[in-house]
Parts: sequence; structure tokens; C-alpha cells
Amino acid sequence: MHRILMLSGPNLNLLGVREPGVYGSTTLAQIESAVRDTATDLGATLSAFASNSEGALIDRLHLAMNQEDAIIFNPGAYTHYSIALRDAVSAIAKPVIEVHLSNIHAREPFRHTSVIAPVCLGQITGLGPIGYELALRALIEHLKDLRTERATS
Ligand code: DQA
Repeated sequence: MHRILMLSGPNLNLLGVREPGVYGSTTLAQIESAVRDTATDLGATLSAFASNSEGALIDRLHLAMNQEDAIIFNPGAYTHYSIALRDAVSAIAKPVIEVHLSNIHAREPFRHTSVIAPVCLGQITGLGPIGYELALRALIEHLKDLRTERATS
């Protein structure tokens, strides 16, 4: 059974009330619950962790080395400047998909750069909450491919 972590960075705990014109009205708990239901349908398990602090996110990524197979990660504003989170993603050597609710490339110039995306499997941006479910599906397919490669090599 594939074990997936959904990791959420700063201010995402305020989804639903935070700038609904940009981020929509769905709460983080509602997104987690929908992604968990899809994970169950696909035979996977989902753990979720959210923190406003960089160190707590790094510690949770380290835990994922032994606890999860892949990670859906919305690093919030840390996306744009946290080399420490980028290094943590690199260090744990697990497939990570970076997700953003808003389209970071269509917003202020300082949001156009992700220092984390280059060490991720991929990035989904601008599709709202469904982006998390697409990331989940992509990670599960990726893990299946890895398993097949290992079995046939
Ligand atoms: C975000 C985009 C970031 O630029 C911003 O700082 C966030 C949310 C998104 O999901 O669209 O906090 O990651």
C-alpha cells in the first residue's frame, strides 16, 4: 500500500478565509479529506501535516524518509526562498510534487520562482484544490512504475 504525505506550509491553515478571491473558499481540512478519500479509493493511505514554521516542515520531511513513499507539498511562501526546504526535499530522496492553488507564474514576479521545484518530480500550479488530487494520482502512478522497474531489472 502506498503511503502518501500531504504537507502544507505557512498560512495554508487559513484557507477558506484567506484571500478567497485568490485561494478559493475550500478549507485545508476539506482538501485533506477529499485527497484522503481519493487515496483510499486508489488503495493508498494519506497522512497530513501543516505548519507555519520552516523547521517543523523540515522535521516532518525527515520523518517521511521512514514513514511515507511520496509527498504532495505546498510550501506556501517558502516556495520562493527556502533553500533549507529545498535541501530537505533533496536529502530525503522521495518523489515530491509541489502544488499551488494559485498560478504562481501569473502573479507577482517574486512568486514566479520556486527554489524547490527543481528538486521535485513535478509542479502543479493554478488548478485550485483539484491540483492536490492530480498530484496524488501522479505520485501513485510514479510509485507503480518504480515498483515495475525494480521487479523487472
Ligand atoms: C501558494 C502560493 C504562494 O506564493 C503563497 O505564498 C502561498 C500559497 C498557493 O498555493 O497558491 O502561501 O503556495
